[in-house]
Amino acid sequence: MKETSERTVHPEKSANRSSKKLRSSSWFDSSTKDGFIHRSWMRGYPEHVFDGRPVIGICNTWSELTPCNAHLRDIAERVKNGVWEAGAFPLEFPVTSLSETNMRPTSMLFRNLVSMDVEESIRANPLDGVVLLCGCDKTVPALIMGAASCDLPTIVLSGGPMLNGKFHGQDIGSGTDLWRFSEEVKAGRMSLPMFREAEVCMSRSAGHCMTMGTASSMACMVEALGLGLPQNAAIPAVDSRRFVLAHMVGRRIVEMVHEDMRMSKILSREAFENAIRVNGAVGGSTNVVIHLLAIAGRVGLKLSLSDWDELGRNVDTLLDLMPSGRFLMEDFYYAGGLPAILRTLGEQGLLHRDALTVNGKTVWENSKDAPNWNSEVIRPSNNPLLREGGIAVLRGNLAPGGAVLKPSAASPHLLKHRGKAVVFENIDHYQRRIDDPDLDADQNSVLVLKNCGPCGYPGMAEVGNIGLPPKLLKQGVTDMVRISDARMSGTAYGTVILHVVPEAAIGGALAVVRDGDMIELDVAKRKLHLDISDQELQARLSQWQKPEPAMKGGYQSLYVERVQQADVGADFDFLVGCRGAGVPQESH
Ligand code: FES
Repeated sequence: MKETSERTVHPEKSANRSSKKLRSSSWFDSSTKDGFIHRSWMRGYPEHVFDGRPVIGICNTWSELTPCNAHLRDIAERVKNGVWEAGAFPLEFPVTSLSETNMRPTSMLFRNLVSMDVEESIRANPLDGVVLLCGCDKTVPALIMGAASCDLPTIVLSGGPMLNGKFHGQDIGSGTDLWRFSEEVKAGRMSLPMFREAEVCMSRSAGHCMTMGTASSMACMVEALGLGLPQNAAIPAVDSRRFVLAHMVGRRIVEMVHEDMRMSKILSREAFENAIRVNGAVGGSTNVVIHLLAIAGRVGLKLSLSDWDELGRNVDTLLDLMPSGRFLMEDFYYAGGLPAILRTLGEQGLLHRDALTVNGKTVWENSKDAPNWNSEVIRPSNNPLLREGGIAVLRGNLAPGGAVLKPSAASPHLLKHRGKAVVFENIDHYQRRIDDPDLDADQNSVLVLKNCGPCGYPGMAEVGNIGLPPKLLKQGVTDMVRISDARMSGTAYGTVILHVVPEAAIGGALAVVRDGDMIELDVAKRKLHLDISDQELQARLSQWQKPEPAMKGGYQSLYVERVQQADVGADFDFLVGCRGAGVPQESH
């Protein structure tokens, strides 16, 4: 018999069959041998699920090696309930997961790899819409980047933050208090047994870091960009309302397929501008700068480091949450969550109110009546935690392509500073040298860490907030200016200049800073200057020799060859842009 793709073998038609031919019908609506293959091997599903109803992919970063995402199988089941209820067919699929706490040399090395995994998994499969399940830091941008390069209807669902840490009668925050305890131990003010005891007290439940680290910041970005439903950011992972949200995500993604509401309709220039301002208002992570630049690149939007500075400069930090403030994500949710922040920004004229979100409403329709139940946690506009809380973008001969600093996490007295460089050629050099009691450093020194950027580490590890010399910690010094081409954890704090472009490993000026050079920082003027003459700088650069790569061959070589610098998002050059989700040719 002649094979044809016109005739269906499934006479029973569901009321949920879409009025237009869906992408998945290219797999399932066929009486050819290919249609047989696509349906037969699915196993265990009744015939009517292949009747032309939307097929929803649930892209899951569940892994026991990514403890922040270890509950996502449960969340996926709730999403499926919503998808079934809305008359569609849910199919969960795994992608590589990225653990901030376990992966070496750094999970950032694999963000672009996972984005490829996501993009190719979506395009290669019979999917009409996608729910992205993420939580731990890099899982969020990796999934959004990959999905954005396909541009199907997509909702992002975060796994939610952990409950507050509790230790000796006090709340403690993921990362933030770890960095503090670690310095306390080095300074001799905390015992090792007490340090070990704090471990289980910090991470008490399922979920991601509950400080405004990168995971919470990216969860806020998901909501601010309009890619998630209202309250996506802050509902704790173990709160029953996270399950309700997951169920509603399952229902809504089916409607989005019927409405053909693709990611590109949500990810507008206005959405990114809203997100940048929200990041300032919540005291979000510097890592968000890189991730949003990379996501914008996937949808062909021109977003720059300068946008970050200009748009965030007049945004006050409203949220009193660690590391910039005192509270934690659980408190944020009970106080009203991100809608309360969006409402305040909207009232201040700092929000593009008409930006569309995945529930089909504008960001302002979603937030204009949002209550603030606790103005200590979510400060009103006339009593912010911090004035001008955005990201400062510094430039000068030390960072002609830019560098970033988070003023809300820095010490005010160091925002204008001049000091002698103490140079660490790489992270090993730092570790060998920092404990030396004879290290020529005082509280005015500027600690310079090289070769930790995208190509140098490789993968741009979160080592920029290097610990202070123990001899100074014992003198009571709590902060010093630090400069590197690395990133730092969003849970960290200090006067830390990050993402220096160009990085040392490709011959940026950072590579030729020497011990004793004077460095000048002036955050108000956005200036970062190495105080040597242009001739001296050129002479040093002409003698610079490229360091040997950490590994030859394999994925790491591909990464180093094709990764771009931090000022454009550290994406691979060949991944920038949207390639759509056209149906590939048959496999047999
Ligand atoms: Fe996973 Fe912080 S370690 S979110």
